[in-house]
Amino acid sequence: MKKKFPDNFLWGASTSAYQFEGGYNADGKGMSIQDVRTNIPEGTSDFKVASDHYNKWKEDVKLLAELGLKSYRFSISWSRIIPDGVGKINEAGINFYNDLINELISFNITPIVTMYHFDLPHKLNINGGWLNYDTVNAFECYSKILFENFGDRVKYWLTINEQNIMILFGEIVGVNLPDNGNKVKSLYQVNHHMMVAQAKAINMCHKIIPDGKIGPAPNISSVYAETSSPIDNFASFNMRVMRNWFYLDTCVFGKYNSLVINYLKNKNSMFEYNDEDMNIIKNAKPDFIAFNYYASATAKMPRSDKDFDELPDQQKLKSVRNMYQQIKNDNLQKTEFGWEIDPLGFRNTLRELWDRYNLPLMITENGIGGYDKLNDDFKINDEYRIDYYKKHLEQLKLAILEDNINVFSYNPWSAFDLVSTHEGVKKRYGFIYVNRDEFDLKDLKRYKKDSFYWYKKIIETNGFEL
Ligand code: BG6
Repeated sequence: MKKKFPDNFLWGASTSAYQFEGGYNADGKGMSIQDVRTNIPEGTSDFKVASDHYNKWKEDVKLLAELGLKSYRFSISWSRIIPDGVGKINEAGINFYNDLINELISFNITPIVTMYHFDLPHKLNINGGWLNYDTVNAFECYSKILFENFGDRVKYWLTINEQNIMILFGEIVGVNLPDNGNKVKSLYQVNHHMMVAQAKAINMCHKIIPDGKIGPAPNISSVYAETSSPIDNFASFNMRVMRNWFYLDTCVFGKYNSLVINYLKNKNSMFEYNDEDMNIIKNAKPDFIAFNYYASATAKMPRSDKDFDELPDQQKLKSVRNMYQQIKNDNLQKTEFGWEIDPLGFRNTLRELWDRYNLPLMITENGIGGYDKLNDDFKINDEYRIDYYKKHLEQLKLAILEDNINVFSYNPWSAFDLVSTHEGVKKRYGFIYVNRDEFDLKDLKRYKKDSFYWYKKIIETNGFEL
């Protein structure tokens, strides 16, 4: 393990606009679906103030520089740039991101920009959201505005964050997709529209930013079978394809995976598409694959329809009848919030991605949420987070140095504490603590956690010190 990561490795960290910025209606910003969301779980905060990065961006960048980051992955809020999703541009929004990007660059931090992270403009949603093909065209216009305004300085672009999670169980992360009566068909129609939108953005990026690089950013996990029985292996294969490869195959190979297409046809839920769409998808070539990894997944096949029917709702949401049931893996430790921890699963996932696609890889999220506490001496002891990162980075190192996988950037979630998608402020992910509670905004001051100093050292030694 006493080796360094490759030269110029981009050590980074991540955030997303609606979870971090606040300023939800500041300076002409339009509403996004997250600003008008009604399904915020009881006892958890909304996203209106979040971590107040909109006002504190300058001091925040200073902290990122002190951490030693080489890259910073953040998302642009579509409705801050174009309040209604289409039409009029909000100059104040352009200025905000220009300032942020310039400040990052002044500290030699490479900006990595997600174009869309769960926060569709509300106006577009009212008009049918992603079920309406107009949203595809709106995304294309939005992407053009981004590339024209920021492309001279931003060279790494991510299209849509966790498209697969939005399609598979968007409700859990607070994204309710439109449904025109046939839920499965609607979801896959939305997926198709996102695929076309993504492809158009890829093509547009290559046209407007000749040295720009762009890729998708799904959430990818290795999938284990619960037992060695053939039927569970069958289920884990289904899950791997439905959860992971369906999305990336379309983006990288330019065609839909036939296992999922057959499934949809058998369910009378095949989405509509035409040759023009498929040509656009086929011609768009991503430069890399970015992905979020938190843990592996494990699957079994329910032994009967009755078994499936009797699953608790949360589990049913994560499972697909006659295809797979996602289950807990007793071999793995859990976080305070019950998420599984699987560092070797990280390496497995990297190996599978590399083996299948052979494209450079970037990690856009990886991390652990917990109940951090600001002590009387203003320190935050998050040893458990250090342990999580250490074990994952060891596996990443092996993947790069022993498996020879081309991974060029690691951007853990998250740089700062922010509002979780559905578990509030109390579920903290950051290297930097933000002093607020669920409903008490306090002073929103920033404090460095123990993991901040640890990660800084890792970056300084380019991974040697792991
Ligand atoms: C990913 C998302 O799903 O995981 C982030 O891209 C999210 O937006 C992160 O915050 C952690 O999930 P959660 O639900 O704990 O916030």
